[in-house]
Amino acid sequence: MSKFKTKVLVSMVSAALVLTACAQVNEKLASGGAKAESTKSQLPVIQAVLTHAPDVPAPITRKYSAKVVINLETQEKVMRLADGVDYMYWTFGGQVPGKFMRIREGDEVEFNLSNSPDSKMPHNIDMHAVTGPGGGAASSFTAPGHTSTFSFKALIPGLYVYHCATAPVGMHIGNGMYGLILVEPKAGLPKVDREYYVMQGDFYTKGKYGESGLQPFDMEKAIKEQPDYVVFNGSVGALNGEKALTAKVGETVRLFVGNGGPNLVSSFHVIGEIFDKVYVEGGTTENRNVQTTLIPSGGAAIAEFKVDVPGTFIMVDHSIFRAFNKGALGMLKVTGPEDKIIYSGKQADKVYLPEGSAAQSIANKQTAETDKALSKDEQIAQGKHVFESNCLACHQANGEGIPNAFPPLAKSDFLNADHNRAIGILLNGRSGPITVNGKNFDSIMPAIALSSSQIANALTYVLNSFGNNGGQVTAAQVDKQRKVAPVTSSNEHG
Ligand code: CU
Repeated sequence: MSKFKTKVLVSMVSAALVLTACAQVNEKLASGGAKAESTKSQLPVIQAVLTHAPDVPAPITRKYSAKVVINLETQEKVMRLADGVDYMYWTFGGQVPGKFMRIREGDEVEFNLSNSPDSKMPHNIDMHAVTGPGGGAASSFTAPGHTSTFSFKALIPGLYVYHCATAPVGMHIGNGMYGLILVEPKAGLPKVDREYYVMQGDFYTKGKYGESGLQPFDMEKAIKEQPDYVVFNGSVGALNGEKALTAKVGETVRLFVGNGGPNLVSSFHVIGEIFDKVYVEGGTTENRNVQTTLIPSGGAAIAEFKVDVPGTFIMVDHSIFRAFNKGALGMLKVTGPEDKIIYSGKQADKVYLPEGSAAQSIANKQTAETDKALSKDEQIAQGKHVFESNCLACHQANGEGIPNAFPPLAKSDFLNADHNRAIGILLNGRSGPITVNGKNFDSIMPAIALSSSQIANALTYVLNSFGNNGGQVTAAQVDKQRKVAPVTSSNEHG
């Protein structure tokens, strides 16, 4: 037997081994030994684990490349955008942002994009982790009730945005079609205690912020780049209260932060924290000791920090009206022992009234206006938003105020006793001592430039909330009080 024959035998045996793994390769080899197509991978096959925000799939521990199968379904569904406000979201996986995917540099991905039979629109996916035309968009264009398959190789590590790129592209993204895919470097990321997924997006609704009901998409506002909502993880309050992110003192936290846009750039900041490390724009450059990091629309960043003291740390887009007036606000709640050296907490609170000080006005007073008359219920609904934007920070969400600083509005004897006096305080601000429910306060409330109807609505809301006695304040009543001289603490009897 010649050397040549032996070689052939060996190659046939090894071919047979491969064949058992892949029938299609088998055909190719049997029909003349041609090389398998590059799409016919011989890597071990792994089914990707995908997670909804704010969760992240576990770090990858394998040390080899794999063929990763990702199945994702686009769904269109009505969900909560804010309290009392619904929106028809278009989603990757049923929530906004879309499911988080985690693969390893060098992996080959088989991507199966299914479009729910209930969908009205076709969708596709453009993944910024893909090297190839459209990032997969054309290959993944999928009609309702269909599944498209394409594959790609993850050549370069990083944190990448994916989004729908079906026309009108801005509308598909504006309705919530974006998410993140992490391509972990071969060496992996350094170990941390907690990983979370946070993604910002701007929303454009026919009604203004807080206007209740099912709100349709507003193309005109989207083109003008004037969103009514800027939110983390798809809705106002998605990361607040019970849904806040959590950590313990001493732990390290890694935030995978994306920005779906469609329009705004995010100035991502965690109040009371400094990022020890930021992987700038989701790439390999590491910046250290960062206060606020810019996240482009269609971009991402990885922010890492150790939490040293307990408390609630507020995540914001530091274009700050977006945080307090449009929803771009989330929370990280840290529990554990205090460290009074790192942060003391308040050590003293004394009244500071320099010569000539008085209640201040935040802006020029507005004059009477011509808003249409609202029903009491409409006033309460609108007043809630006025309250949340202007009063909540001091008087608190439950109206209980803050002891020794801001008087309660809940079950308030002072408030319920005299509506006109309350109007006067909103119009002109107030300073000096005050007794509410038997407790003494001495703080300053600034006059806030609210319209007469905003003041009327806010007061009507408060009077009908927090265990107060009910009642109604009208814009006309506020207009009337505008003509009355401001009441000061020296000539009132509360
Ligand atoms: Cu789409």
